[in-house]
Amino acid sequence: MQQRPEWIPDGVDLEKPSAARCYDFYLGGAYNFEVDRELGRKALQVVPHLKEIAVNNRAFLRRAVRYCLDQGIRQFLDIGSGIPTAGNVHEIVHSVDPEARVVYVDNEPVAVAHSRSILEGVEGASIVQADLLDVAGVLDAPETRRMLDFSEPIAIMMVALVHFVPDSSKPREVIRHYYEHLPVGSHIGFSHVTGDHHREGVEGLVKLYENSINPVTLRTRDEVAELISDFQLVEPGVVYVPDWRPDTQEDVWEHPERSIVYGAVGRKV
Ligand SMILES: C[S@@+](CC[C@H](N)C(=O)[O-])C[C@H]1O[C@@H](n2cnc3c(N)ncnc32)[C@H](O)[C@@H]1O
Repeated sequence: MQQRPEWIPDGVDLEKPSAARCYDFYLGGAYNFEVDRELGRKALQVVPHLKEIAVNNRAFLRRAVRYCLDQGIRQFLDIGSGIPTAGNVHEIVHSVDPEARVVYVDNEPVAVAHSRSILEGVEGASIVQADLLDVAGVLDAPETRRMLDFSEPIAIMMVALVHFVPDSSKPREVIRHYYEHLPVGSHIGFSHVTGDHHREGVEGLVKLYENSINPVTLRTRDEVAELISDFQLVEPGVVYVPDWRPDTQEDVWEHPERSIVYGAVGRKV
């Protein structure tokens, strides 16, 4: 067994890969363990452009955040925020308005510990350790209440998150609970893995993640649309992420379905 590095928080299972740490590996980060890299390497065998997929999903997150900023939103609740990496939500948001507020939420202890350390001394951003499924645990956390004003629009981000929620946990109802607590004018930024194309590679990924902390549930485009159907989708609706309002040449993919991730932004009207 590898030696336990000092920065690892108590309670972390070093023997099981986690989605947060594998994703950090795809993005070239340093907050992953051998067990995550092992899964990551196998995943790259079944979907060789997985690193590009992760980078592209981050680019979608940035465009969705900027869209919400353009709508005048100054409060962000980023659930399943992951291990901080280049272009974090608070960096984008604070570059536009230093007074804006960002609350990150994740249930993975490494993601939370690293977020806590980079947010130390940062005004207007904090991290809550909670589970998406525990709506009250997220919305009533003292940090959430201190930072966010629920009488003003909020952008809730669930990016590359809900495919980790099985149907048995009723994700449609969970998202509705969040929707009900948000004021009119709030937005959701959403992305989700699908097997609508490249079925074989994507199913290979699902199989690999079966033994991780975060098994994956694939959903079709219609199922993704249904999950967020309380919100009014802004153009272009639910599309492969490269097609969601690309703003640089790098965002545009000749075959957007290779991204294997649908993205959308919706508004509460
Ligand atoms: C693939 S990462 C996405 C990170 C970031 N949102 C992005 O798109 O760049 C998914 C994150 O969701 C977190 N996660 C998975 N299930 C969760 C749950 N039930 N509650 C909170 N976070 C969860 C994982 O720990 C991981 O950090």
